[in-house]
Amino acid sequence: MIYSTALQDHGLPHDPFKAIVAPRPIGWIGAISGRGEVNLSPYSFFNAVSSRPHIVMFSSEEKKDAVAFIEETGEFTCSLATKALARQMNMTSAPLPRGQSEFGHAGLAMAPSKFIRPPRVAASPAALECKLLSVQQLVDLDGQAIPRWLVLGQVVGIFIDEAYLRDGRFDTAGANPIARCGYADYAEVESLFSITRPPGG
Ligand SMILES: Cc1cc2nc3c(=O)[nH]c(=O)nc-3n(C[C@H](O)[C@H](O)[C@H](O)COP(=O)(O)O)c2cc1C
Repeated sequence: MIYSTALQDHGLPHDPFKAIVAPRPIGWIGAISGRGEVNLSPYSFFNAVSSRPHIVMFSSEEKKDAVAFIEETGEFTCSLATKALARQMNMTSAPLPRGQSEFGHAGLAMAPSKFIRPPRVAASPAALECKLLSVQQLVDLDGQAIPRWLVLGQVVGIFIDEAYLRDGRFDTAGANPIARCGYADYAEVESLFSITRPPGG
């Protein structure tokens, strides 16, 4: 089958797009407002887009508190969401009133960042400390500004719980990260395989 995204004529009970672009890593974004209010929320429209310097992005559908706070203070954390923290991660997606911290709501302890003000999730094996590069409102094929905001940040610090270092490498499978698929589905990383790049590449 092939269908038109404009017509959505797939005949399926749900749009399969997010089940195809899967699994998507989850950026568990910590941000702080100009008044010092804390926000923590998961974003699966999230990825790394540059390795030197380290740059990450996430996208917000509607301008959510994370984006508003980051625009105010220019900094955010991305904590790694793991299987052990899946239930709490999901709780932090609740649309709480502005000013009520999702950390408390989900029973998660905050840990201070080293280089920026927003906290990270203390129980997470790794976290990125980021400074805002840009917030860009997306435009569609008709040239219409749409209520989607793309946030780019440069990583200025990386926290690693040393319990997850094995022979000097971050033990991704040991950290057991989760990633978002379609519908209510998630994937978890439990095992890895390696392929070395061809020479001359
Ligand atoms: C696993 C997961 C991934 C999510 N990814 C996104 C996303 O990429 N973009 C988005 O706008 N909302 C996403 N959400 C929903 C937001 O987390 C949620 O709307 C937000 O936390 C609401 O809080 P706020 O109103 O305080 O900003 C996701 C939720 C979950 C559980």
